[in-house]
Amino acid sequence: MQIPNLLEAKKRNQKDILIKTEQYILKENLKKIGLGKTYFVKTYGCQMNEHDGENIKAILEDMSFTECESMEDADVILLNTCAIRENAHNKVFGYLGRVKHLKEAKPDVIAGLCGCMAQEEVVVSEIMQKHKYLDFVFGTHNIHELPVILNNTIETKSQQIQVYSKEGDIIENIPVKRESKYKAWVNIMYGCDKFCTYCIVPYTRGKQRSRNKEDILDEVKHLKEKGYQEVTLLGQNVNAYGKDLQENYRMENLLEDVAKTGIPRIRFVTSHPWDFTDEMIDVIAKYDNIMPYIHLPLQSGSSRILKLMGRRYSKESYLELAHKIKERIPNCSLTTDIIVGFPGETEEDFEETLTVVNELKYDSAFTFIFSSRVGTPAAKMEDHIPLAVKEERLQRLNNLVNQYALEANQAYLNQVVPVLLEGMSEKNEDMLMGYTDTMKLVNVKADQKYLGQIVDVKITDVKTWSMDGEMINI
Ligand code: 5AD
Ligand code: SF4
Repeated sequence: MQIPNLLEAKKRNQKDILIKTEQYILKENLKKIGLGKTYFVKTYGCQMNEHDGENIKAILEDMSFTECESMEDADVILLNTCAIRENAHNKVFGYLGRVKHLKEAKPDVIAGLCGCMAQEEVVVSEIMQKHKYLDFVFGTHNIHELPVILNNTIETKSQQIQVYSKEGDIIENIPVKRESKYKAWVNIMYGCDKFCTYCIVPYTRGKQRSRNKEDILDEVKHLKEKGYQEVTLLGQNVNAYGKDLQENYRMENLLEDVAKTGIPRIRFVTSHPWDFTDEMIDVIAKYDNIMPYIHLPLQSGSSRILKLMGRRYSKESYLELAHKIKERIPNCSLTTDIIVGFPGETEEDFEETLTVVNELKYDSAFTFIFSSRVGTPAAKMEDHIPLAVKEERLQRLNNLVNQYALEANQAYLNQVVPVLLEGMSEKNEDMLMGYTDTMKLVNVKADQKYLGQIVDVKITDVKTWSMDGEMINI
């Protein structure tokens, strides 16, 4: 048994910077464990978790399990969890109620929990005390050990908890079952060293570790050969890519080399304004296959709050960067993340956030009420703001964000834009859906034979969060 420890997770030292890259290998004796059995994986949270979910599914299939549509039909259930805010926790604990019920009716079902919540001491001790029906828990650093952990669970019939607080090495060649045939996530780095005071990620995902450029470029080339149209380079803080490597090879170099592979579309998330260099902006502007879409978390428009958040930029320097991006990258769409109600945020601080939104007129924004995370510095700050005030601020912010999102979309009316057709529209089964280069969701009137292609679409109607259009036949 190995349980997580937040203090351990906080420790970073030079000696640990040398990360070993190892290969995933599945032992012969574990390859047939799942024959005739099914699995169900439920994933919560960010793109990184989504991609981990794709790895987990492929590992289970390597062990001969087959995916099924619902938890009720599965022999193995796995919750891949998120810890970023309290409501993510609550959703998982709510779902665990259903798992417990099911296990009472079908005791042979095996249920496990992994992902960011597994890295939290408080969660694991709660599981050990109150959720004994859960068969196994593993963390974000040892996904590759799932076969061994699952096998031990089956053999010993006892609760297996295997979570490392200190990040492991980078494991290459973990298999992946991609959700899409047209667009793919590609990890370029793991972890985060920024330690923003509200954020649990540096503890749950560990120290920043960049993948070797050769491994990333091979993966992109391979995806291109298989016909993929789009890659999204993934990391908690992608702009810091390479800072932990020996070589002087940074995000701008990687972006340029990925662009040169000729894959039609490249995106990257998430950027931290601190590490966003002029060289990066130049590379994005230079290559047509790097999409004109930047997600640039603001978090707050008040320099005072930004300082308390440990964000390392001011309102002014953020605005300068955002304007530079908009000027140098033509037609660039800009989106953001904003937190309201950070401890000590005054009405004036909040209004500064609104000022930034008014000035930059974001294409869209994810907005959140501050959520106190155990073990982070912000959890110890005094938080006097009543919930009603936080909710009212969120509402005002959302009204403004929605207004600019609609205005940004209105500029697309009657324009012809490139859209990667990637699936059936959720709202209308006669239509397809896809995203523009600028990441706008479009429901498109087009023949299904064009699925997987980037086509020209004339926008015929716009709403706040999506647009309608029809494919232009050439
Ligand atoms: N409370 C509220 N929002 C948070 N985020 C991260 N941590 C917290 C927290 N403790 C938001 C940030 C981040 C996004 C992924 O989630 O805005 O950019
Ligand atoms: Fe969290 Fe800040 Fe790292 Fe983003 S940059 S993952 S907000 S600590």
